[in-house]
Amino acid sequence: MTTEVKPKAGLEDVVAAASAICYLDGERGVLAYFGYDIHDLARGASFEEVCHLLWHGRLPNRAELGDLQSQLAAARPLGEPILRLMKQLPASDGMDMLRTLTSALGQYDPEAGDNSAQANQRKAIRVTAQMGSIVATYGRMQAGGGPIAPDPALGHAANFLYMLTGNRPNALSTRAFDIALVLHADHELNASTFAARVAAATLTDLYSATVAAIGTLKGPLHGGANAEVMRLLIEIGQDAPGDRVDDAIRAKLARKIKIPGFGHRVYRTEDPRATHLRRMSRELGERAGNTRWFEMSQRIETLVKGEKKLNPNVDFYSASTYYTLGIPIDLFTPIFAVSRVSGWTAHCLEQYANNRLIRPRTDYIGPQYPQTFLTVDQR
Ligand SMILES: CC(C)(COP(=O)(O)OP(=O)(O)OC[C@H]1O[C@@H](n2cnc3c(N)ncnc32)[C@H](O)[C@@H]1OP(=O)(O)O)[C@@H](O)C(=O)NCCC(=O)NCCS
Repeated sequence: MTTEVKPKAGLEDVVAAASAICYLDGERGVLAYFGYDIHDLARGASFEEVCHLLWHGRLPNRAELGDLQSQLAAARPLGEPILRLMKQLPASDGMDMLRTLTSALGQYDPEAGDNSAQANQRKAIRVTAQMGSIVATYGRMQAGGGPIAPDPALGHAANFLYMLTGNRPNALSTRAFDIALVLHADHELNASTFAARVAAATLTDLYSATVAAIGTLKGPLHGGANAEVMRLLIEIGQDAPGDRVDDAIRAKLARKIKIPGFGHRVYRTEDPRATHLRRMSRELGERAGNTRWFEMSQRIETLVKGEKKLNPNVDFYSASTYYTLGIPIDLFTPIFAVSRVSGWTAHCLEQYANNRLIRPRTDYIGPQYPQTFLTVDQR
């Protein structure tokens, strides 16, 4: 069969699913989860409240929030086999580690193969809780420390920083990290969420769909961009004078090298998440007595806006925000996953609830059919 319909490169503007989860208006720079504006959520909601919103379609009351917090806390400790496996894996990329260990989580979950809505709700909580513990513990071990047991009294953001560093974080760091988790939780049909939905639509299990999403998030055109931003800032050097920053960026643009953290498939205006991350990058820098990364980022933003008319996306200021929080670069993209798993699982729950296999077509551009077949000795 030949199809007359020419595909849009990268499926740009193609509507591929109906979803109640995320409202995105790229022209006006609006992002909302179940109708709640991201600015309101960033100002007033915790990551746990957002998880409840994404999984149930409504914000929790006090009792429901307490219940979810308890369930997350109960699920946070990592089993001995997962810790053992983490120690055995070769030191590699944080996303490779997360992909392998999330896959292993599925093998140790007795409910992994139960695709009922109730079991999937429980697994969404478990995989979200445990991915936070995995990334924090991995970061701690990479820095030469031993694993730290989660503290059930701490929320998801504070607990992550505690398991990573061994120190209870102050209120500013905790809130900044919590906001970062809120901002990254969902983003409509981004590449990794699409991957998760495609996997879920085959009726595979929730862990397998999550692993598909992790592998997709890893790429530098998607979640990998935040680490690339920080490598760029470091490559230029925090002591570089302003004109050297400009020269470095101009040289890249002249060579058609993309500047990580800029541009977006959907937003034609400022990414509303960048607004909060820019402010947090500045506030954390001021608190730490080093605003150099923030200032350099701002200078790059002005230049790229001027030269290319491109706005910063969620990844640009998250780089200096995380770095100032003392988080190693290798964890930047895994942290994106620690938050986005809430959105991936919400989309999978929605997909399972009203499923049809996702199976598009290609526009065939190969050799003319039919080709004359010759056996291997005739060729
Ligand atoms: C996000 C992104 C993948 C969107 O891609 P897209 O919608 O396919 O847009 P394209 O890659 O086709 O870019 C369109 C044009 O803008 C330019 N452009 C896009 N992002 C750019 C960037 N970050 N730096 C410099 N130029 C960029 C492209 O070179 C292209 O220019 P051309 O038409 O002269 O060839 C793209 O902007 C990008 O690669 N950004 C950097 C990586 C990043 O930050 N990813 C995280 C996204 S949240």
